[in-house]
Amino acid sequence: MRKILLIFALVLFQIPYVLADEGMWIPMLIGKNYEQMKALGFKLTPEDIYNVNGSSLKDAIVRFGGGCTAEVISPDGLLITNHHCGFSSIQAHSSVDHDYLTDGFWAMTRDQELPNEGLTVRFLQRMEDVSDVVLKGIAVDTPEGDRQKLIAQRADSIEVANTNKGNGIVADVRSFYYGNQYFLMVYEEFSDVRLVGAPPESIGKFGGDTDNWVWPRHTGDFSIFRIYASKDNKPASYSPDNVPYKSKRFLKISLKGVHENDFTMVYGFPGRTQQFLVSDAVKLLINQSNPNKINLRGTRLDIFNKYMNSNDTIRIQYASKYASVANYWKKWIGETIGLRRLNAIEKKQEQESMFEAWVNTNKDLKEKYGNLLPSFRRLYAEVAPLSLVADFRNEDVYAVELLRFSSNFSKYINDVISGKGDSATIETERKDLVRYTSSFFKNFNINIDYEVFGAMMYNYHQKIPLDYQPEFLKNIQEQYGDKWMQMASDIYNQTAFADSLRVLTLLASSDTANVKVFLNDPVFQIYSQFENLYRQKVKPRYYEIEDSLDIFYRRYVDGLMKMQPDKEFFPDANSTLRVTYGTVKGFEPRDGVVYDYYTTLDGVIEKSMNKNVADYVAPKRLIDLYKSKDYGIYGVNGTVPVAFIATNHTTGGNSGSPVLDGEGNLIGVNFDRCWESTMSDVMFDPDYCRNIALDIRYALFIIDKYAGAQNLISEMEIIE
Ligand code: ARG
Ligand code: GLU
Repeated sequence: MRKILLIFALVLFQIPYVLADEGMWIPMLIGKNYEQMKALGFKLTPEDIYNVNGSSLKDAIVRFGGGCTAEVISPDGLLITNHHCGFSSIQAHSSVDHDYLTDGFWAMTRDQELPNEGLTVRFLQRMEDVSDVVLKGIAVDTPEGDRQKLIAQRADSIEVANTNKGNGIVADVRSFYYGNQYFLMVYEEFSDVRLVGAPPESIGKFGGDTDNWVWPRHTGDFSIFRIYASKDNKPASYSPDNVPYKSKRFLKISLKGVHENDFTMVYGFPGRTQQFLVSDAVKLLINQSNPNKINLRGTRLDIFNKYMNSNDTIRIQYASKYASVANYWKKWIGETIGLRRLNAIEKKQEQESMFEAWVNTNKDLKEKYGNLLPSFRRLYAEVAPLSLVADFRNEDVYAVELLRFSSNFSKYINDVISGKGDSATIETERKDLVRYTSSFFKNFNINIDYEVFGAMMYNYHQKIPLDYQPEFLKNIQEQYGDKWMQMASDIYNQTAFADSLRVLTLLASSDTANVKVFLNDPVFQIYSQFENLYRQKVKPRYYEIEDSLDIFYRRYVDGLMKMQPDKEFFPDANSTLRVTYGTVKGFEPRDGVVYDYYTTLDGVIEKSMNKNVADYVAPKRLIDLYKSKDYGIYGVNGTVPVAFIATNHTTGGNSGSPVLDGEGNLIGVNFDRCWESTMSDVMFDPDYCRNIALDIRYALFIIDKYAGAQNLISEMEIIE
C-alpha cells in the first residue's frame, strides 16, 4: 500500500502545476501563475498587477482600518469598501438627530465629508524577499532560542532602516510558510480618511444576520470614503487644509458585468488561513474546539435574542454585539460541516501517509523529517485539554461582559494597591477608565449579562475538568446546589461593576479606599480567579506547545515542498496583500439544489415581501425605483444585478477587496463567502468554495439613482 501511494505521489508530483482556483498569491511573484491566469481569461501582464517602477493595480488598493480592504475609484482618492467595514465610522457619526445607520449618509460636497479619528489606510509601496538576510547563517542545528533571537534582531533592524514615521512610511517584516521565508512590506499610511457616503442599513446590511454567509444574497454591502493628504500629496494627520489624495493609480469601473466562467481576480488583504494543519489539528478543531465555541455562542445568542425581541432599546443596544458574536458562530458551523463533508481528517491522513512514505525512502530525510508526525500527534494530544480551557476563557469567561469590563481595571488596581505605579500613570489609567466606563454602559443591559453569567458559569462547571476550575466554582455547589441563577443574581446584586454611577463615583479619585472596593468586588474576584488559574495552569505550557508546533510546522512545510518540488505552494494568508483568481460560477450546495451565479434587485423585492423577517425590510425609495424601473445605465434585462459568486479563494480581511475583470477593471466588491465554502480556511474545494461579491452596478445604481450623489459618479471613470 505504501509503495503504491509513493509511486502515485512521485508521478503526481513530477508534473509542474498550479492548483486551479485555490491560492492566495504573493503579488510580486504572480508571474508563476501567469500562464494559468491567461488561460482563464486574464488579459494583462504580471507587471500590471505589481510593479515598483511605475504604477500598477496594487497602487489603487489599501488595507482599510484594522481588518478590511478598500480600493481607490477616482483621481481624487475616493475609496469604496464594504458597509460592514465602514460600520463603526457610520455608527460613530450617528445620533438620534442624524441617524446615518438608518437613513444613510451622502456628502454632496467635499466639505460635508466626515473625518474619522483613528481610521487609517495603507498602500503597499513595495515588498522584498529578505529571507537571505533574516535567515543568514541559521542552520538546521541552530538552537531554537538563538534562531528566534537572531531573526527578531534582524527583522527589527530591517524595519527600523525602512521606517519613516514622519512621512507615514511603515515597514513590516513578516514570516511566510511558518518561518521558511521572510518578506519586508513597506507601506505608506494615511490617517485623514473621511466618510463620504453610505446607504441605509436596509440596503447596506439588507438580509442582516439571516443572510450572513449565505447565498443567494441581496446585500448592498458598500460604503464610500476619501483619503486626504497634505498639499504636497503626503500622509498627514487630519487638517481642514488637507486635500484629496492623488494616488498613483485608481481603478476604472466596468459596467459590462459578469457571465458564467468569466475570469475574475480579488486583490486584497486576507487575514488568516491554516491550509497546512495536520490531521490531529483538524480533529481537534472539528471535534472539540468548534463544537464548544459554537455551543457557547449559541447560548449567548439565545439570551440576546430573547431580550432583543422584547424591547426596542435593547435591540438597538445589542445589534452590533449580536452581529459580531453571530458572525463567527455561523462561520464555525459552516466550517465544521464543510470539513466533515470533505472528509478533511482522512484527506490529511492520506497526505501524511504519503509524507511518511517519502521520508522513509532515505536516511537523511528520515533524520530530518522522521520525527514530525509523531511529534504532532504527541503535542496535539497534550494541548487538547489546555486548548479546551483557552477556548472557554475566550468564549465563556470573557463572554460575560462584566467580567471583561472588570478585567480592564486590573492594571489600575494593581498599580495603586502595590504602590508601584507612579502617580502620572495612575492618573492616566483612571481617566481612561472613566471614559471607558461611560462608553461601556451605553450598550450594556444588566439583565442580559446576568443571564449570560449564570449560563456561562454553569457551562464552565459542567464541561471543564475540576483541576481547571477556580475555587469560586468549586464552592458554588456547596452554597447553592443547582441554583445557578440564584448565585448569579446574588453576585449581580452585590457588585459595583454593574452600576455606572457607583463605578464612576469610585473612579472620582484613586484613593486606596476606593480602589480596594474594586479589588474586593465579587466580579473582580471571580475574574481574577479565572485569570490566575489560566496564567498558572494553562498559559505557560500552552504557549510552549504552540511555539513547538510552529517549529514542527516550519519543518513539515519545508518537507512538503521538497517532496513536491514542482507544486506551487501559496503561503497561508497573513494580512499581507494577495492576489486570488478564479471564474464566475454557480454551484450545487446540496443534492437537488443548484445555485445560479448572480442575484438581482428582483430578489431584494421578493425577500422584502416576507414580512416575518426584520432583516428583509427594503426602503420605500428603493421599492419605488423598482416599480418605475428607473435603472439608468445600471440595469440589464429589466433589473439591476446585485451580487455574484466566483471561485476566488478568499477569507476574512478580503472584505471590501476589489473584484477585477481580465482587464483589471472593477466589476465588484468582495464581501463574504458562501456558507458551504467556509472550510476553505483549512481546506479548499473548487466544487463548493465561492466568494460573494457585490456587483459594482448595484453600488453605482444606489449612489446615482437612490442617493442622487451624481457628484461622486462624475469623478469616477466608468466604462459602459
Ligand atoms: N460574514 C461577513 C464577514 O465575515 C460579513 C459580516 C458582517 N455582517 C453581519 N451580518 N454580521 O465579515
Ligand atoms: N466578511 C468577511 C470580511 O469581513 C469576508 C468573508 C470571508 O471570511 O470570506 O473580511
